[in-house]
Amino acid sequence: MSIKDNYLTLADGNQMPQEGFGLYKVDGQQTMNDAIQNAYNDGYRLFDTAQLYGNEDAVGTAFKQLDIPRDQIFVTTKVAEENQGYDKAIASVKESLKKLQMDYVDLLLVHWPIERSFFETWQAFEDMKKEGLTKSIGVSNFEMIHLQYLATQANEMPVVDQVELHPLLTQKPLLKFNQEHHIITQAWSPLGRGAVLGEDVLKEIAAAHGKSTAQVILRWHLQCGVSFIPKSVHEARIAQNADIYDFKLSSAEMEKINALNKYQRTGDEPELVYEYNQQY
Ligand SMILES: NC(=O)c1ccc[n+]([C@@H]2O[C@H](COP(=O)([O-])OP(=O)(O)OC[C@H]3O[C@@H](n4cnc5c(N)ncnc54)[C@H](OP(=O)(O)O)[C@@H]3O)[C@@H](O)[C@H]2O)c1
Repeated sequence: MSIKDNYLTLADGNQMPQEGFGLYKVDGQQTMNDAIQNAYNDGYRLFDTAQLYGNEDAVGTAFKQLDIPRDQIFVTTKVAEENQGYDKAIASVKESLKKLQMDYVDLLLVHWPIERSFFETWQAFEDMKKEGLTKSIGVSNFEMIHLQYLATQANEMPVVDQVELHPLLTQKPLLKFNQEHHIITQAWSPLGRGAVLGEDVLKEIAAAHGKSTAQVILRWHLQCGVSFIPKSVHEARIAQNADIYDFKLSSAEMEKINALNKYQRTGDEPELVYEYNQQY
């Protein structure tokens, strides 16, 4: 198995690469082109952007300039809090598609749960899927309580929940809940934005396998069965992060990594974003 042929099947029947490429803070057209070209050459097929990142136009231009066929890639974008609500969400996605120079995205996510337009936004997502603006619909930063609340009115449940997830925030109960409800958990900041790379336990495991600590963390995500989307703008790291398919962590090593959990977030607490109606 390699990054290029490693797909998960979503509850709606669509296929999604298990490992993808994060585009947050990949800024400037040349940096974008280089990052996407390197990632594509290394076998990444899933590219994760958002309205909030302000780079959807650079992403679209990169795919065009690099001549990457649309049917070879899986593109995710996310609706920002300010664009939530029925009409606003639809108008904003049409704008995103214009910037991306695409007729559809593969996966559309509600970026954060907010109280103000919780159900209206999801209704818009269901309708946008019917209209063909997106192949699949999902959410991001939803905790169990938000998913359970959504289920009280949704006709169709999210097929993906993209959440902060790394060895310092293992989120095991949420992973179990998502699994039981056929929702694929996707890890954002899978490397903890670099915060976990220096952990001694990871260094020991990395040395035993002749791999880097980043590779050990990504392999842990792989073996946990979640999807994950590391970001890098450095060619060697982009290659390294895809080179995790030729070794296996033992169950004892998996347990040691699970035990690093410190409930430590790098990002916002979803329930507070829900109540504030914005990231804080
Ligand atoms: N849904 C959400 O709310 C949400 C929130 C945050 C992020 N995301 C998505 O998740 C993606 C990934 O998260 P992230 O960018 O926050 O964090 P991340 O992927 O955990 O870490 C990225 C950081 O680690 C460095 N890095 C990458 N590979 C490395 C390696 N092999 N060795 C050492 N350092 C390495 C990168 O530096 P260099 O680039 O300098 O190499 C960068 O500083 C984002 O790009 C975005 O698409 C979603």
